[in-house]
Amino acid sequence: MSTYNESARPKVTTSRLMEMKRLGEKIACITSYDYTMAGIVDAAGVDLILVGDSAANVMMGYDTTLPITIDDMITFAKGVARGAKRAFVVVDLPFGYYQGNPELALASAVRIMKETGAEGVKMEGGSEIRESIARILSAGIPVCGHLGLTPQSVNKFGGYGVRAKGDEEAQRLIDDAKMLDQMGCFAIVLEKIPAALATKVTAEVSAPVIGIGAGSGTDGQILVIQDMLGMNRGFSPKFMRRYGDLADVMEKSLNRYVTDVKAVDFPNASEQY
Ligand code: KIV
Repeated sequence: MSTYNESARPKVTTSRLMEMKRLGEKIACITSYDYTMAGIVDAAGVDLILVGDSAANVMMGYDTTLPITIDDMITFAKGVARGAKRAFVVVDLPFGYYQGNPELALASAVRIMKETGAEGVKMEGGSEIRESIARILSAGIPVCGHLGLTPQSVNKFGGYGVRAKGDEEAQRLIDDAKMLDQMGCFAIVLEKIPAALATKVTAEVSAPVIGIGAGSGTDGQILVIQDMLGMNRGFSPKFMRRYGDLADVMEKSLNRYVTDVKAVDFPNASEQY
């Protein structure tokens, strides 16, 4: 049984996300990477689905998000866009397809929009990618910013620790968030920064701010679906709440299947032609 009110389900658009911020209605966001999962997520009432480049980790088994290609992202995003009926679908531009090259950035974003059916792109960074963001926005493609811990820069940061704890980095983040807002980004993700800083940024920009590891003062929250459903046993940072133990459910179900096949209990007489 769904606990989400099925009758109040307008399609989520960029203007609806802005309206939600204005009304103080929190925005529930989750990552997804395939058609089946996107359909379940959409039916549950999630407002925004991110086809994150975290697919590099949770779908492809890489240690970082750096190796994933735009073709990989397009494959994942095609399924998600077909599965999502109501949620707004955003796709990460992967590492190496937009930094320092506005023409490439526009070409990458256009490919995502043309080939997947998604509704916007997300890009990691602030002033250093300003021209790339501007070029994409000028083509009418909605852009979501991403500041704080930006995993595509893991080698620069030297790890996945909390960002912007010091005054200088915090001020840079505030300036970048205001810049993204003024440029017309439809939303800004803030990852793994102090809650007080995220609350301040949320109050000072008009774009909806979506937090992950950024406290409760943002306009919405996002988590990686495998993490929050407990499919990813090894990953449990402080900010993550586990809403299920799917790894356990799946493993037990598969154990039963293996047992039944080996015992020639599956298929039985009613399960064959
Ligand atoms: O790639 C991703 O899943 C993300 C979210 C964690 C925000 O960028």
